[in-house]
Amino acid sequence: MAKRVLSGIRATGRLHLGNYLGAVKGMLELQDRSDLETLFCVVDLHATTTPYDPKTLPQNTRSVILDYLACGINPGKSALYVQSDLADLIAQLSFYFSTVETIARMQHLPTFKDKVKQHPNNVTMALLNYPLLMAADILIYKAELVPVGIDQEPHLEVAREIARKMNDTYGTKFPEPVRFATSGEYVPSLTGEGKMSKSVEGSYISLTDNLELITKKLAGAPTDSGKGEIVPPTGGVANLLKFVELFEGIEKRKMYEEKYMGEGIRYGDLKKELAEAIYKELKPIQEKRKELEHKTSYVDEVIKSGAEKARKIAQETVLEVKEKMGLVKKLRVNNQ
Ligand code: TYM
Repeated sequence: MAKRVLSGIRATGRLHLGNYLGAVKGMLELQDRSDLETLFCVVDLHATTTPYDPKTLPQNTRSVILDYLACGINPGKSALYVQSDLADLIAQLSFYFSTVETIARMQHLPTFKDKVKQHPNNVTMALLNYPLLMAADILIYKAELVPVGIDQEPHLEVAREIARKMNDTYGTKFPEPVRFATSGEYVPSLTGEGKMSKSVEGSYISLTDNLELITKKLAGAPTDSGKGEIVPPTGGVANLLKFVELFEGIEKRKMYEEKYMGEGIRYGDLKKELAEAIYKELKPIQEKRKELEHKTSYVDEVIKSGAEKARKIAQETVLEVKEKMGLVKKLRVNNQ
């Protein structure tokens, strides 16, 4: 049987370069491998774990589906679906998982602590359960490979832990999923601090940004005098060089590093060239997305058939877990 691959992106609006390089690029690579079965989704249930607007959620969910397709996710190869279309099965499985996981473990996750800081008045059960829901997303297909950025590693660790605990407690046969890393597994912020993130204004470039906007955003990225004995390992300059590496290649990065330690870098030139390299990669994606915006019934059909394909596998797993947990009679044994 082909190994399965699962990944998801929250329905928080348009994708940024971090999502694209850290997750989507990995998905594209894996969907082309004939030894793998790939499933990708928009996790709209996860989007409800922090304050959100129910009126704009459907539009945000759809927007991520369009971004997936525009980036090259091929529905002929990968099942593409919306998480809440399988809410009955996924939320159900996450409840079963909650019988083997402790509250203390969930409260100590760095991702949970960050969200508590961001939204101190919204520390809900849904937020605490976030990693269990994610474990259910993955394990419902017994997926073994998960293309995601490095920031998701603590959640994957929980998924592995849940798989072990479910297997030990109930005798299920969940595999322990591992992360599939890309060269953009950690895309830094344009602000010079931390990672690129939708929740930090000024930190990101969206997949829909035009050349003018990309140029403007890069112009605001912090730099220094352009010269020194060693290239700074962190901060604005280090981040800019990471972008050069990701979009113009390692050789170009090395060239700038040498310049930094020699005659000096002219950041105006670096930023102009970098903006053009980024836009060159985004332009075809933007063109394809425009076309897709008019293909409403095609996109509806993609989502519908993706969910049907996913549901077939998901149903099997949920039934198996229910049987193992003593929640259904062993109907399949002797056909009784
Ligand atoms: P989310 O929606 O925050 O991000 C989607 C994907 O983008 C990656 N990413 C980054 N990668 C590199 N550098 C960055 N600066 C950067 N920012 C975001 C994320 O690592 C992720 O791969 N919990 C998940 C959603 C989820 C999921 C799942 C993922 C729910 N269930 C099952 C995989 C499998 C999240 O919040 O991703």
